[in-house]
Amino acid sequence: MSQKQSKEESVPIREHVFDGIEEYDQRLPNWWLFTFYIAIVFFVIGWALYYQSPLRLVDDFQSIDSEMAEIHAKKEAETEKVLATLDNDALYEMSKKPEQTEAGKAIFEAKCAACHGMDLSAKLGGVALPGLPLNDAEWKYGGAPLEIMNTITNGSPDVTKGMIAWSSQLSPVEIAQVVSYILTYHPR
Ligand code: HEC
Repeated sequence: MSQKQSKEESVPIREHVFDGIEEYDQRLPNWWLFTFYIAIVFFVIGWALYYQSPLRLVDDFQSIDSEMAEIHAKKEAETEKVLATLDNDALYEMSKKPEQTEAGKAIFEAKCAACHGMDLSAKLGGVALPGLPLNDAEWKYGGAPLEIMNTITNGSPDVTKGMIAWSSQLSPVEIAQVVSYILTYHPR
């Protein structure tokens, strides 16, 4: 291949011209070549270790899967522990702990107040809301803490009433917190 010489420098210029653009034919600098070859070597070693090693020392997908499974199992165990010890007394105890009732209040105001009222009276400015009052002594589905918890978890037997099974949106722990908040209106 014959090569032209540029006027200013002795770097060869490649033959082709495209849209008036010419290209130097430079030898790549050593530091660049060095990095490039190191990258190739690094890739080969990495590829062999990650994907070809019979030891399967480091498989990202496997380790993510097992870590996720571990986290999931831990969460389940924690929930089960909470639920196993959950009885009426435990829920009354919870209702005395501000950090639990505050969490329950936040959930109540976000998810429940629209139908049951901010003050649990099921009224807004004297107008009745769709839900039942939760601050009085009358309970359609029982006023024991576990009964309240059951109503919230599984919803009203009559789905057309609008009281859904909140287990679809809230974790058991969150539901227990809401119950503890409702119980602050019913101190023992
Ligand atoms: C869309 C409106 C609506 C929302 C939102 C709603 N409820 Fe209800 N709730 C109702 C209705 C209606 C009833 C009565 C159902 C019936 O008569 O079968 C009810 C019943 C209840 C009862 C039983 C009351 C009793 O007298 O036994 C409890 C407890 C309760 N709701 C708690 C909650 C909690 C806690 C939330 C939020 C997580 C919530 N509700 C969200 C409409 C709602």
